[in-house]
Amino acid sequence: MSKIELFENERASGYNQFVETWIPGYNFFLDHLPNLLSETEQKDLLVVGCGTGNEIERFVQTTEHWKITGIDPSPQMITQAKERFQDFENVELMTGLLCDLDKEKKFSAATLLLVLHFMEDNGDKLRLLKDVSERLVSGAPFVMLDITGDKSQIKQNLNVLRLLLPDGLDEEQIDNSLNRIENELYAVSEQRLSELLQEAGFEPPLRFFQSAIYMGWLTRRNG
Ligand SMILES: C[S@@+](CC[C@H](N)C(=O)[O-])C[C@H]1O[C@@H](n2cnc3c(N)ncnc32)[C@H](O)[C@@H]1O
Repeated sequence: MSKIELFENERASGYNQFVETWIPGYNFFLDHLPNLLSETEQKDLLVVGCGTGNEIERFVQTTEHWKITGIDPSPQMITQAKERFQDFENVELMTGLLCDLDKEKKFSAATLLLVLHFMEDNGDKLRLLKDVSERLVSGAPFVMLDITGDKSQIKQNLNVLRLLLPDGLDEEQIDNSLNRIENELYAVSEQRLSELLQEAGFEPPLRFFQSAIYMGWLTRRNG
């Protein structure tokens, strides 16, 4: 059983404010997600690790009619997402792991934002990426946002991240958070991430976005 980074209590309730503070450009990235995935004919989106539904929010605001399935193992995050989208019939939310979702149902696009860096590169990352690719039609676009880089790149980009944070944050809290990112999360190099994606059944990914340690990747399910 792989380790699951459950977001509970204060981490769940204060989540949205936390990401906006700590990921410069996060809202810009989210705002453009529907455009990035817009070329798919079927608008059947799988949002893996949807949390409170920040990605989903952008898709329900477009004029295109997306059918959206969000899945996340944290009941507290899903509860927030359910409240947020209770009026949307085109949004289905599930508590659980992707491996529990029926493999027969295929989606035409998927996202995996800020999830993979919580998983070790001991088979867990590959398993999750395979679980995504097995649920996509051939050629389906897949967007990821993840902390990426080898140790020295992460170290240097953490110094940059410190300079990009909003004013007025507590210095001790900044040090703790940056230390945690450096020592407790499981970032892999760009090269390794590309290998994992290809082994899981995706095309070589394109890095199209970067904000310090956070990189945005676009790939497709092999045809
Ligand atoms: C940092 S949050 C990202 C939430 C959302 N994607 C966003 O950008 O706002 C990470 C989420 O990954 C979920 N998670 C943890 N382990 C997971 C797994 N094995 N599969 C899918 N989601 C997972 C957590 O419950 C949490 O909601």
